Amino acid sequence: MVILKSPSEIEKIRQSNFIVAEILEILRQKVEHGADTLTLDRIAEELALARNAKPAFKGYRGYPYSLCTSVNQQVVHGFPSMRPLEEGDILSMDFGILYNGYYGDAAITVPVGTVSNVAQELIETTQKALFLGIEQAVPGKRLSDISHAIQSHVEAARCSVVRKFVGHGIGKSLHEDPQVPNYGKPGMGIRLKPGMVLAIEPMVNVGSYEVETLEDGWTTVTKDGSLSAHFEHSVAITEDGPVVLSTTDGSA
Ligand code: MF3
Ligand code: CO
Repeated sequence: MVILKSPSEIEKIRQSNFIVAEILEILRQKVEHGADTLTLDRIAEELALARNAKPAFKGYRGYPYSLCTSVNQQVVHGFPSMRPLEEGDILSMDFGILYNGYYGDAAITVPVGTVSNVAQELIETTQKALFLGIEQAVPGKRLSDISHAIQSHVEAARCSVVRKFVGHGIGKSLHEDPQVPNYGKPGMGIRLKPGMVLAIEPMVNVGSYEVETLEDGWTTVTKDGSLSAHFEHSVAITEDGPVVLSTTDGSA
C-alpha cells in the first residue's frame, strides 16, 4: 500500500533529508587519499546525533554501521573499514537518518583524487540517470516511466543497471511501497500521484548487472569485478512536479 503524504508531512521528510544531504556534503569533502571509511562512519554518526537525528541503518536488519561505504567493485552495503582510500578509487556513501518521526535517505559516489575516465564516466552516467528518473516523477505518469528513463540512459552509455536492489517509498518507515526498480518498460506500474515520496537509487555497473553478496551477509559486489556507482535522492511528487528533498540548496 502506497502511503500518500500531506504537504506538512513532506515538509518533515524534507527536514530529515536536509540533514542527510548536509552530512553527505561534509563527508564528500573528507574523501581523499589516506582517509578511511570507518572514520567517515564515525563522523556521519556524530553529525547525525548532534542534530538530534538517529542513524537509520545501524541495527536495521542487523546492519552494523551508520554509513554504507562501497568502494570500486562494491555495489552497495559495504562495511566501513580502516583501509585507507587510494587515489583512483571511487567511493559510494549511502546514509539515512530518522528525525522527528520521518526518514531521510540519500547516496552519492565520489572519486578519490583523480580517477580513470571509465570511473569518471560511470559516476556521471549514474548521476545523470538518477536525474532523468527524477524528471519522470510527475503526477499522471507511471512508476516504470522512472525505471525506464534510468535504464535507457545507463544502457546507452554501455553500462548496466543492477536488478537485485531497488528504490522505495519513504516516510515514517525507511522502506515503504512502492518498490522502484531501475529498469523496465515504460508505462507500467502504479500511476504517480501528488503526495508520493520516493527514494530513487540507481546502482550502475561498468560490466554486467550481476552482483553477489559476500560472507559478511551485506557487502554486495559486481560478479565480474567491474566498477559500480550508486546515487540516491528522496523525491516528493507534487502538483508542480518532482521536488528533490535530499538537498541543501534546492539543486540535486
Ligand atoms: N539506501 C539503502 C536502502 O534504501 C540503504 C540501506 S542500508 C541498510 O536500502 F543497512 F539499512 F540496509
Ligand atoms: Co534507499
